[in-house]
Amino acid sequence: MNNEVKTVPSILSADFANLEKDIKRIEGVCESIHIDIMDGHYVPNLSIGVPVVKSLRKVTGMTFDTHLMITNPEDFIEAFAKAGSDMITFHIECSKEPEALIEKIRSLGLKAGVAIHPDTDIKVLEPFTKKGACDLILVMSVNPGFGEQSFMESAYDRIKAVRKMLDDNSSEALLAVDGGVRGENIAKVSKAGARHIVAGSAVFKSEDPEATVKELNKTGNDSIR
Ligand code: DX5
Ligand code: ZN
Repeated sequence: MNNEVKTVPSILSADFANLEKDIKRIEGVCESIHIDIMDGHYVPNLSIGVPVVKSLRKVTGMTFDTHLMITNPEDFIEAFAKAGSDMITFHIECSKEPEALIEKIRSLGLKAGVAIHPDTDIKVLEPFTKKGACDLILVMSVNPGFGEQSFMESAYDRIKAVRKMLDDNSSEALLAVDGGVRGENIAKVSKAGARHIVAGSAVFKSEDPEATVKELNKTGNDSIR
């Protein structure tokens, strides 16, 4: 199993008038970027949609980790797949038939992730922590909808619990954390068991995003050795 801690910059905090430029700033040090899709229904905010993902696909070969914070995610899987997403993560709170949705995402050749809101009992994740059930579990460490919020301390125990569930089942699904991660807490988040570390403002609001990613990766990886 690949045990490396990897920072995955969220473009929500990038400059939307210069997305290509901002992506190029971190392309050399990251494999993936995190793309937040918000609908103003599931979360009280709007962000970007399919056309932006399609345009970004033309300017970078990075892996697109698309985070759908939308109701009726099943209606948009094909469009985001066609636009160039490599992985689609939907909220467990928004799906009536999550297993079928995972199946649908995978049938299009993409990886499938399941995200959980801070208020949702992690017990609902049990079926998805079984070996092979999904490719990523994303534990939200802020209320979804906005960047630059403070990390919720309650997330550490949730990450630890999901880590245990995955390990007990020998699942190789990636454990992701999203929201409020920065230099001060990436060690603790990594020690708790997260490996796919989404970071928006910490990366793109810093003076040197590339150096910040390197530093975050180093701190995270040092903490688990
Ligand atoms: C929040 C989004 C996050 C956000 C993280 O709803 O899902 O991906 O961009 O931003 P920071 O790292 O600034 O908390
Ligand atoms: Zn996100």
